[in-house]
Amino acid sequence: MNIRETTNLDIEDILLVERAAFKREGEAMLTRNLLVDPTAKPILSLLAYNETQPIGHILFTKATIITAPHIKASMLAPLAVVPQYQKQGVGSALIKKGLQLQSQSGIELVFVLGHIEYYPKYGFTPAAKLGFEPTYPIPNEVADAWMVQALKPGIIGAVSGKVMGCDAMNRPENWRE
Ligand SMILES: CC(C)(COP(=O)(O)OP(=O)(O)OC[C@H]1O[C@@H](n2cnc3c(N)ncnc32)[C@H](O)[C@@H]1OP(=O)(O)O)[C@@H](O)C(=O)NCCC(=O)NCCS
Repeated sequence: MNIRETTNLDIEDILLVERAAFKREGEAMLTRNLLVDPTAKPILSLLAYNETQPIGHILFTKATIITAPHIKASMLAPLAVVPQYQKQGVGSALIKKGLQLQSQSGIELVFVLGHIEYYPKYGFTPAAKLGFEPTYPIPNEVADAWMVQALKPGIIGAVSGKVMGCDAMNRPENWRE
């Protein structure tokens, strides 16, 4: 498996992976919108390949803590692996590579809304109890699906508040699991 950053020429490969993984159009549309949203920058977009076949995609876009806009934060969404390649470590490799590159580029906090059984394996922990309010309210039963990870020490506990994504992310339909 190869993982590399995407370019403008990769949009069809990216959308193919998103559609195959989610079996609907919503995440592909969101991805397309995020990739062209100027407020989403800095972006990190990675594709995983098996030889020439695209098999996984991960995207990180800009997030802002309203009360602490100097903190460099991002949101991980979406993460997609095509069904034939799921449960073979592709998602895991994309998250690890993504977090490593985010850390190198100075990102301090990464937020995600996702499977509570999955993301804690990679260092994420429920965010609301640490003082980070999601952009839109999350139902109580799945409140822990809103998670955060610090890539630098000393930030969690020192800042808190409501977290906003980029313009394309800040729509209620993106905040339902
Ligand atoms: C969720 C998804 C990205 C995981 O990718 P993947 O390549 O299958 O995951 P990995 O093979 O790296 O799995 C790593 C571990 O997580 C587990 N896991 C995989 N998918 C899981 C899920 N949906 N819920 C809980 N655990 C999961 C695996 O069993 C494995 O556990 P192990 O390390 O103890 O063996 C992939 O299944 C997918 O694209 N699903 C459809 C789209 C989706 O739901 N995206 C995530 C939105 S938050």
